[in-house]
Amino acid sequence: MGGGKIVGILIFVVVVVSAAGGGGENHHHQQQKWWKWMSSTSAAMVNPVVSSSIVLPLYGNVYPLGYYYVQLNIGQPSRPFFLDPDTGSDLTWLQCDAPCVRCTTAPHPFYKPNNDLVPCKDPLCASLHPAGYKCESPEQCDYQVDYADGGSSLGVLLNDVFHFNMTSGARMIPRLSLGCGYDQLPGQSYHPLDGVLGLGRGKTSIVSQLHSKGAVQNVVGHCLSGRGGGFLFFGDEVYDSSRIVWTPMAHDRMKHYSAGSGELIFGGKGTGLKNLFVVFDSGSSFSYLNAHTYEGFISLLKKELNGKPLRETKDDYTLPLCWKGRRPFKTINDAKKYFKQFALSFGNGWKSKAHFEIPPESYLIISSKGSVCLGVLNGTEAGLQNVNLIGDISMQDKMVIYDNEKQAIGWMSANCDRPPKSSNMIM
Ligand SMILES: *[C@@H]1O[C@H](CO)[C@@H](O)[C@H](O)[C@H]1NC(C)=O
Ligand SMILES: *[C@@H]1O[C@H](CO)[C@@H](O)[C@H](O)[C@H]1NC(C)=O
Repeated sequence: MGGGKIVGILIFVVVVVSAAGGGGENHHHQQQKWWKWMSSTSAAMVNPVVSSSIVLPLYGNVYPLGYYYVQLNIGQPSRPFFLDPDTGSDLTWLQCDAPCVRCTTAPHPFYKPNNDLVPCKDPLCASLHPAGYKCESPEQCDYQVDYADGGSSLGVLLNDVFHFNMTSGARMIPRLSLGCGYDQLPGQSYHPLDGVLGLGRGKTSIVSQLHSKGAVQNVVGHCLSGRGGGFLFFGDEVYDSSRIVWTPMAHDRMKHYSAGSGELIFGGKGTGLKNLFVVFDSGSSFSYLNAHTYEGFISLLKKELNGKPLRETKDDYTLPLCWKGRRPFKTINDAKKYFKQFALSFGNGWKSKAHFEIPPESYLIISSKGSVCLGVLNGTEAGLQNVNLIGDISMQDKMVIYDNEKQAIGWMSANCDRPPKSSNMIM
């Protein structure tokens, strides 16, 4: 599958009853107002802790690289690591010289573990295991994560310091739990990074941990640029909430970021392909539809291409479905006129339906051979069963926000090329 990867979705995740965030919303708004009022009167008195965010630049692209990554500085003294930001899983881990039994090629020397082990009785350890799990020894917490693409990491949890610059200008060095992964198997869609940055809804997720230290609101978001790069953020200060299309998070047993039941809209019209369970997953470079929906989608696409100068090609192996034009395409702009926009529509129980629009440049790529290839794949074939994934390709040039306080997922079109400046964030 070329550069495709579905690091995202975890296969074995503990079932945790999610705490409904009833009162969270009010609390959150009050704090925001309080901050605005304080900052206009006596800024010096403000406690920056709940009122700041962290913005980190992203590197990489959907194609040809097949992944985005972020640099985190971890340890004392700090060392840089390149991590795959994954909203489809919780645990952050680094390839670790414990010593390493099996590690994959990484851009930096393997992480050297300290002795600050997370004990078995720690709630973070429990959250990584089924209820009633007994550790082999009480002083350590072993973990194993298995990803949908067949990759895995096995290791032990420990605490170490992470170095962050807040948008307020303050530096923060929280001690957070991470996995020292000393036995990794690469998946089908392996890529050479130092580890995974878990951004999911569970307790071990970096954003949950930062939140429990009082550092930021329990909100994570990303803005992936179609030109490569972009930014990742923690906290709720980098966007204007009133400009975001919000939809409630579904209560998913697996604790994925799901917007619940969606309908496929093609070229502005309903398709009857509905009740789609849709998950937003930054750990997946492409998008996936379940077999039934995928078949419907492809037949709509092909009908639309009737009479257009595009021919399906069997000699481009970049992705399963590619088309050639009369001449090789140089950029997506040459090919996008032949394709329609599609969307996923969520009947959100709120005012109106929320549409997540996916223009041609967010579901097609131009291969190195100049064909135009479909970046939406058959999820059933990829082992995702009925789950439909919105991957990086379809989240490009949008800010996508996972608000665990309000229990909502939001998005808006955005220019992701430049991280927002802190001066326009606070006011
Ligand atoms: C924080 O900002 C300082 C000054 O701009 C910079 O030298 C440092 O590398 C930054 N640290 C991190 C973790 O980004
Ligand atoms: C999708 O995958 C399923 C399971 O492998 C397969 O039965 C089906 O034919 C595939 N559909 C298409 C259009 O490739």
